[in-house]
Amino acid sequence: MGRLTRRSVLGGIAGLGSAAAWPNSVLPATAARKKTPYGIAVELGPFRKDPLYRAALIKYADILVPMNALKWGQLRYDKARFDFSGADEIIEFAKRHGKTIRGHNLLWYNYNPKWVDAITTARDAEKVLVEHIERVVDRYRGTISSWDVVNEVLAHNPLEQGRWRKGVWFSNLGARQMEIAFAAAARTDPAAQLVINDYDLENIGPRFDARREAILQIIRNLQDQNIPVHGVGFQAHLYPEREIDQPGMAAFLQKLQQLGIKILVTELDVIDWKLSRNLIKRDIGTASITAEFLRAIYSQGPIDSISTWGITDRYSWISDVFKRKDGAPNRPLPLDRNYQPKPMFDIIEKYRESN
Ligand code: XIL
Repeated sequence: MGRLTRRSVLGGIAGLGSAAAWPNSVLPATAARKKTPYGIAVELGPFRKDPLYRAALIKYADILVPMNALKWGQLRYDKARFDFSGADEIIEFAKRHGKTIRGHNLLWYNYNPKWVDAITTARDAEKVLVEHIERVVDRYRGTISSWDVVNEVLAHNPLEQGRWRKGVWFSNLGARQMEIAFAAAARTDPAAQLVINDYDLENIGPRFDARREAILQIIRNLQDQNIPVHGVGFQAHLYPEREIDQPGMAAFLQKLQQLGIKILVTELDVIDWKLSRNLIKRDIGTASITAEFLRAIYSQGPIDSISTWGITDRYSWISDVFKRKDGAPNRPLPLDRNYQPKPMFDIIEKYRESN
């Protein structure tokens, strides 16, 4: 391949295998509809020290999502008080620049302070959880319009590990953790969009079937009890070496629509640890899996929002957790380390325009 231009790379992707690899079929004839709102998860460190990072947030995002600043580990490291300082920095910036804000998250098995993980009774767990949700959701009522209420409540493999992820909330409250969390959030801000957020929902295989089925069961159970739930968040940490389950996704999305549930992409990035070291091939691989996933997620019509977990390859959790064996830096996000758009960026734009 000659010099890499975005056009040539996109052309390359169009030619990769079946016609279905390129999504023209889902694009509307006219671009009359509104683009899908685009969100970026914001990391406090770079946000404070890198003006180019802030400029990219201003330039590209419709929505900002504090990446870690609203997690229990940040807000509640001290049992005696809430520390909203980090979250407030990002939220003030978002407001100043006319961005809407998504909140991540109110309940997770991970990233909790020690005093929370030490809870051993249902009574204490419920009290602490409800207090937290009421306090946090109330503080940002009218400001945070969409919440990841529960995050990663499914077991990694529900076929082998029981349906739910083990952790402080599950071990004390069982499946009631979801009911308590959604009910508390809905009571506190009846106007907020309440989302169940999870990973590994898009691929082929029994583990993924079981995870999709578990999501449907949670939603039906909440709805049977008249507890509001409005959306499913597909984290979409994508593995290029795994195939997207196009029919499985279509069927899942149809069932969600029948239940009145909105579809969100919440943490999109690409785990490029097994892709070629060659940058052109790597960026094509990253854009291709993004296109395959977005083809599935848009197959039943418009979606509610699409967020990436960061914006530039300069800062990403993928570089910490999914390091490449060859030591080459990861390239998981829409902009490269110098804030230049990569083919993945154009793929996201194409699909956003198809909303
Ligand atoms: C990650 C952040 O990106 C890291 O900075 C942090 O150290 C750990 O958490 N699924 C989620 C996110 O729901 O909250 C995680 O974010 C990534 C996986």
